[in-house]
Amino acid sequence: MFFKNQRKRSDFVRIDSFKNEKPVLVGARKLEPITDNHLPKVTLEKVSCSWSKTSELPSLQNVSLEVADGQLMGLTGPVGSGKTTLLLSILGELPVSSGRVSCIGKIAFVSQIPWVYSGTVRENIVFGRRFVAEKFNEVVMVCDLEKDIKRFPKGDLTEIGQRGVILSGGQRARVSLARAIYSDADIYLLDDPLSAVDAKVGKHLFERCIKEFLSGRIRILATHQLQFLKRTDSIVVLENGSVVGKGTYGQVIIDGIDITHLNLQAARRSMAVITQDPVLFSGSLRKNLDPFSLYQDHDLWRALEDVQLKSLVQQLPAQLEYKSKESGNNFSVGERQLVCLARALLQKSKIIILDEATANVDFKTDRLIQDVIRNRFKDSTVITIAHRLNTITDYDRMVVMDEGRVVEFDRPDVLLQNKEGFFARLVHMQNVMAAH
Ligand SMILES: Nc1ncnc2c1ncn2[C@@H]1O[C@H](COP(=O)(O)OP(=O)(O)OP(=O)(O)O)[C@@H](O)[C@H]1O
Ligand SMILES: [Mg+2]
Repeated sequence: MFFKNQRKRSDFVRIDSFKNEKPVLVGARKLEPITDNHLPKVTLEKVSCSWSKTSELPSLQNVSLEVADGQLMGLTGPVGSGKTTLLLSILGELPVSSGRVSCIGKIAFVSQIPWVYSGTVRENIVFGRRFVAEKFNEVVMVCDLEKDIKRFPKGDLTEIGQRGVILSGGQRARVSLARAIYSDADIYLLDDPLSAVDAKVGKHLFERCIKEFLSGRIRILATHQLQFLKRTDSIVVLENGSVVGKGTYGQVIIDGIDITHLNLQAARRSMAVITQDPVLFSGSLRKNLDPFSLYQDHDLWRALEDVQLKSLVQQLPAQLEYKSKESGNNFSVGERQLVCLARALLQKSKIIILDEATANVDFKTDRLIQDVIRNRFKDSTVITIAHRLNTITDYDRMVVMDEGRVVEFDRPDVLLQNKEGFFARLVHMQNVMAAH
């Protein structure tokens, strides 16, 4: 998450929201104070931008949109379609090559990969602002952190990070969200904050935090999940950096736009671990796929093809020699996960651990990954940690955990027969939610 005052780009006007809480208008080299005529608003006019001068296609092409009047806009589209890029261009993190971005109001950004730093839970949320107990408690409540904090040894004064408790991915996501909410902005850019948590928590965050607590604020929510898109005021669908659909959920769906999408990550020789927080190492794509130079080019291409990354890599300036930057952030999160899956495929890993790997990918990509795992890892042991239950119902064995304990362990069909059991109830809940 960034606040405006942390921005470093000099070609964008920077606002210092700590010292001067008054919102201002930010445009390409434009800064105006907020006035009665300038209520919070985000406007993109024919915006194009590229991550690199050499890339053939701009990452965003001719994108126009406007969000005002405290509306909630859903932003969706396949892996690598430009959702994160669009949010970064609003933040001013990525200079536009043509068109204009303007933004009136203070922005808070929740990044797709949640982060925490060493310090107490409270410090991680308050983040240098004034601590106001009442406000803090409410933020903790709407971000569904109450129970977690109660369970920590020193409550909200518990240290997290290196010297303290290690947070789960879902807890990190909620702390990152809480930090943004606590900052009291006019505009919230939410990059897929609901994918790292289970369906029940996701629903709570969407209802209590995004819909209710932030009501009246401008919100742009990047997500693959239809049940949330259905409940936004408007939707923008991106594909290859262009807007291919705009309107309300009904309008978008009737136009038949495919809003599916995906994600995956990491592997080490015989064991491959693919997580929701995929990290590539700096170096060429080739090195990332085949660190020990054991395979031929056609094997590498085959693996990329299997995970449907071949055409993307063919379009990169240096193809297999294309350099992944530090932790791979010149690839989208979903793309990074696919690279990691391709690496596991190539190395014929014997044990595959998927830790919520497909939590924030669209359904199409999720299905692709599930297919690859079922067909290509037939002789491997696959351990999947999942919230999306329909992806694991045909597994051989299921472990259900609750509050740190194993509460059920059996074949899924056996667990389903126990209607009062944890697993059967979770499945039921997800079905009910999906039907709404
Ligand atoms: N830092 C970067 N440097 C170079 N290219 C980048 C960078 N970040 C993203 N890209 C490229 O820009 C395109 C759009 O990526 P972006 O991260 O915006 O996708 P996304 O829609 O957010 O995908 P996902 O659903 O996987 O999060 C992709 O082709 C990606 O490879
Ligand atoms: Mg993204």
